[in-house]
Amino acid sequence: MFSISTYKPLTEPIEHASRDQLSALQLKRLQWSLRHAYENVPAYRASFDAAGVHPDDCKTLADLAKFPFTTKADLRDNYPFGMFAVPREKVSRIHASSGTTGRPTVVGYTANDIQTWADVVARSLRASGVRPGMTVHVAYGYGLFTGGLGAHYGAEKLGCTVIPISGGMTERQVQLITDFRPDVIMVTPSYMLAILDEFRRVGLDPRASSLEVGVFGAEPWTNAMRQEIEAAFDMHAVDIYGLSEVIGPGVANECVETKDGLHIWEDHFYPEIIDPETGAVLPDGEQGELVFTALTKEAMPIIRYRTRDLTRLLPGTARSMRRMEKITGRSDDMMIVRGVNVFPTQIEEMLLALPALSAHYQIVLTREGRMDEMEVKVEARIDHSDEANSAAKLLAKRIKDRIGITAWVNVLPPDGIERSQGKAKRIIDKRPKV
Ligand code: DLL
Repeated sequence: MFSISTYKPLTEPIEHASRDQLSALQLKRLQWSLRHAYENVPAYRASFDAAGVHPDDCKTLADLAKFPFTTKADLRDNYPFGMFAVPREKVSRIHASSGTTGRPTVVGYTANDIQTWADVVARSLRASGVRPGMTVHVAYGYGLFTGGLGAHYGAEKLGCTVIPISGGMTERQVQLITDFRPDVIMVTPSYMLAILDEFRRVGLDPRASSLEVGVFGAEPWTNAMRQEIEAAFDMHAVDIYGLSEVIGPGVANECVETKDGLHIWEDHFYPEIIDPETGAVLPDGEQGELVFTALTKEAMPIIRYRTRDLTRLLPGTARSMRRMEKITGRSDDMMIVRGVNVFPTQIEEMLLALPALSAHYQIVLTREGRMDEMEVKVEARIDHSDEANSAAKLLAKRIKDRIGITAWVNVLPPDGIERSQGKAKRIIDKRPKV
């Protein structure tokens, strides 16, 4: 892993713009985006009219709060192309998220949008310490999911050699990492753990691999997981965030020199934090639901999109643009167990503090009578099976002490938990729906 003491960040001037410069640019772009949505997407015209607001009412950035939110349901209701603001012939790419129920969420991009997206991913990679000429192994899934192609275009734009392997076929991932010697890997953190297992299974030392930087996202992961991956591979592990509705990966990214939360590329994406119950905008620093407005998107403008992701906004550090703290979880993934709110990331943090347990885990929720039961499935680390049971007891105690719920920690042998090839499924909720 390269040393941060001699590291020189590579940035564009906008990444160091003053707040005033940035706000002026944001306001101009926001006014354009509101008008573009209102004039070209009947669903936006209807919702703005119903709320009694017009794009001309946006005179300052704070005026955005007068405009209605957009949710996943709005996208589903206008399936497939009803949210597009340009004629279909001007749409050069479609992506979609599968969604667990019903219709997928469809998003579209003009040729300019694809360029913008490649630019923000290239910027994200630069922030991660990636440089032109490096080789990037892309193990995010290619296809309708935005991960693979989003990473691919950004890495090409930066001037990297791209290996578009996509997700899956873990043996081959390890073989190609060994043979092609990439400097960078882009993959979900949970799938990186499966790749790590495979390195060990075939007797290769992951620390001797060519990888210098991992750009991990598409799912929540903790700083404890970062330490786990960095130590295992002797590489930097950096967080990348994004969502299809807003563009895909590259909405925000950590800087490798600070790893202190993700700088939001605010010249293209305007963030707000709201109280998820009331919808009120909260001041920077307060925890709530992240809401995004795209400032430059042509094919599918998106105004005040409720991400369901929980975090807070913090001032800029390595760049002048604001940061978002690492995501705690999605409000959809918040488990309410016997009335107590729990996120998988809280369990992950405690689990990884115990060396006898591996980083693979899953949480199973059931209901006995009226009582919720929480089972945490964990794996003993290879060569630690003797200590795994006492570590499990300690984990149960810490969950009780710190979160206040009784959990049953079940230790499975190494490989006992199904490996993800993309986004990990952390929660299996078997409770009857009420
Ligand atoms: O996951 C885009 C992406 C691909 C981001 C590759 C980063 C890397 P969707 O499938 O639409 O898009 O899912 C978006 O994934 O609302 C978050 O809940 C979650 N998510 C994405 N990145 C992170 C992250 C892609 N770094 C949803 N940390 C978002 C936590 C993340 N959660």
